[in-house]
Amino acid sequence: MASPDRWPEIRGIAYGGDYTPEQWPREVWREDVALMRVAGVNLVSVGIFTWALLETREGVFDFAWLDELLDLLHENGIAVDLGTPTASPPAWFFAEHPDARVVTRDGVTMGFGARGMASHSSPAYHAAIVRIASALAERYGSHPAVVMWHVHNEYGVPVGEDYSDHSVRAFRVWLREKYVSLEALNTAWGTTFWGQHYGEWDHIGAPAAAPSVVNPAQRLDFARFTDHQLRACFRAERDAIRAHAPQPVTTNFMANQSWTTDLWAWAGEVDIVSDDHYLWAADPEGEIGLAIAADLSRSVGGGKPWILMEHSTSAVNWQPRNVAKRPGELARNSLSHLARGADAILFFQWRASRSGAEKFHSAMIPHAGTSSRVWREVVELGAALGRLDEVRGARVAADVAILWDFESFWAQDLEWRPSVELSHAERIRTFYERLWRDGITVDFALPGHDLSSYKLVIAPAQYLLSADDAAKLTRYVEAGGTLVVSFFSAIVDENDAVHPGGFVAPLREALGVVVEEFLPLREGARHAVRWDGSTSATLVADAWQEDLVLDGADVLATHVDGPGARKAAVTRHAHGTGHGWYISTRLDAAGLRTVMSDVYADAGLSPSGLPDGLELVVRRGDGADYAIAINHRDDDVPLAVSGVELLSAQDVDGELVVPAGGVAVVRTPLPHSGGGGSAKSGNP
Ligand code: GLA
Repeated sequence: MASPDRWPEIRGIAYGGDYTPEQWPREVWREDVALMRVAGVNLVSVGIFTWALLETREGVFDFAWLDELLDLLHENGIAVDLGTPTASPPAWFFAEHPDARVVTRDGVTMGFGARGMASHSSPAYHAAIVRIASALAERYGSHPAVVMWHVHNEYGVPVGEDYSDHSVRAFRVWLREKYVSLEALNTAWGTTFWGQHYGEWDHIGAPAAAPSVVNPAQRLDFARFTDHQLRACFRAERDAIRAHAPQPVTTNFMANQSWTTDLWAWAGEVDIVSDDHYLWAADPEGEIGLAIAADLSRSVGGGKPWILMEHSTSAVNWQPRNVAKRPGELARNSLSHLARGADAILFFQWRASRSGAEKFHSAMIPHAGTSSRVWREVVELGAALGRLDEVRGARVAADVAILWDFESFWAQDLEWRPSVELSHAERIRTFYERLWRDGITVDFALPGHDLSSYKLVIAPAQYLLSADDAAKLTRYVEAGGTLVVSFFSAIVDENDAVHPGGFVAPLREALGVVVEEFLPLREGARHAVRWDGSTSATLVADAWQEDLVLDGADVLATHVDGPGARKAAVTRHAHGTGHGWYISTRLDAAGLRTVMSDVYADAGLSPSGLPDGLELVVRRGDGADYAIAINHRDDDVPLAVSGVELLSAQDVDGELVVPAGGVAVVRTPLPHSGGGGSAKSGNP
């Protein structure tokens, strides 16, 4: 059966969450569906951790309870995202196949009693996942409640890499396919270093813990292999489903919270992208990390619909300090996802579990029941989303792309790098945060993508860059693009081998610089940077300086002190009809404000002019724009906009006040369609 690649049959914006009725008696099921109707829930994910209930022994199925549940949901107009339960194989599976258990890098064989898949390379696990997925699809492929399929749960979490014998054997097969000859593998891995040369395929192992640092190229290939094996598991289930069922298939990603899977490749395999996002409680501005995850989910899909599969109504239970969401935060978080393209807002989970490891996790129905603030906000949100049907499918357009490359992250995260301060997550967040505060919407992209539609491309952490991709970025600049490259980019090729000719050499033409030597700073050291661009200022930076050699670039900032004193810190180079910027030190988001304002001028971009903390994103529909505003501030903010505010159904003529902590969705006619409305961002 062909991939449907379409939105499931659900009305409007989907609303609901993970539903685990298997934890509750039947009378609670009836109360649940009644309350779902009160809350406006129209989609629930079921069955995700129910393998032991569905297949009680190998090949022996009990579908009676699920038949009853799906019928009940359907009778109440609630659609189902049906899970395959393969993220938690039953006890009988591990008892019969002890060799299918995951082995850690340190050689520990994982026990039973939690959750987490078996070895991705175990033949018994493969057979078992195809059996259960096929049985479910055969039985429920034509059930009217089922509108989509939810394969597995968060591939790569809690276990991704596996060092079992099955995995080692599969790794050798994968390597033979990739390299064909041992000579090619030895060259790519640089095995002359520390005498690691291989004479037999069977001598190659997984990069398990060893007396010292294991060959980084081997580890990078093992990360690629792990991603490949996990995807093979997904494909096996998806294809088993497609053989019997027509509904779209997804699996829930963890964009920006797990790096084990290459979501660019995964998004090509699913019909609908779905993401789970949880705020990082230690971050007082978690909404910025949320926006990164949402923009990444949209970007990897490349135009496919995407849904927020899970987030929390309040606190989670797995962080060191699980901070509860404050009044209104649930709606703000939900609307931020929606603003960035999500067409479904779902939670983990519907009803809080009384037992088990997640009993302190919030839910749509908390332990306090329906006489609670959280429940009231859940009902309010359901009503609000019910007024936004027309927003579904409206697109988000961005003028800026930030490079996000999982392979580069895998390589950079290995040991023995020049400084522990070199974090791709930190650099991406800092650049993204600057753009978020400036009200500029961002896509994420790979360096090899066609970037020609973007006015500005930022490479905050492109440690691994192939010569081919460097040539593409160079052509992007030549053709008039503005490229900003941050330090520790374009350092190694696809085998984690240093590019010859000095660091950043593959981008020398585009940037007009090359790095002779890294000058990492001691912990806590801060230094001054003299900025002489269109304005003059002294900026503060830390962690990193470089001995930068100019090859045509203009110097816009200079290190005042530190080992790089008097050397160039920020440069700009005219190449073709575009400009290549290089920032060789760690400026914070405030320091970047000054530099980026000149970058924006090169790229023809303008900040929104809105006060910091007023998030505004526009979705473009067929006949109208939707300006979605989320006010994270403690004061009301006036917004220059005209149209109809959909949550209140009020006309807006020129100015809308977005209340402190509040949200608004304004339909504004498209500029060319007449009608007098406008979707300007900015203060009146
Ligand atoms: C993940 C899982 C859920 C649940 C939540 C808790 O996203 O998919 O099953 O464990 O975390 O936050």
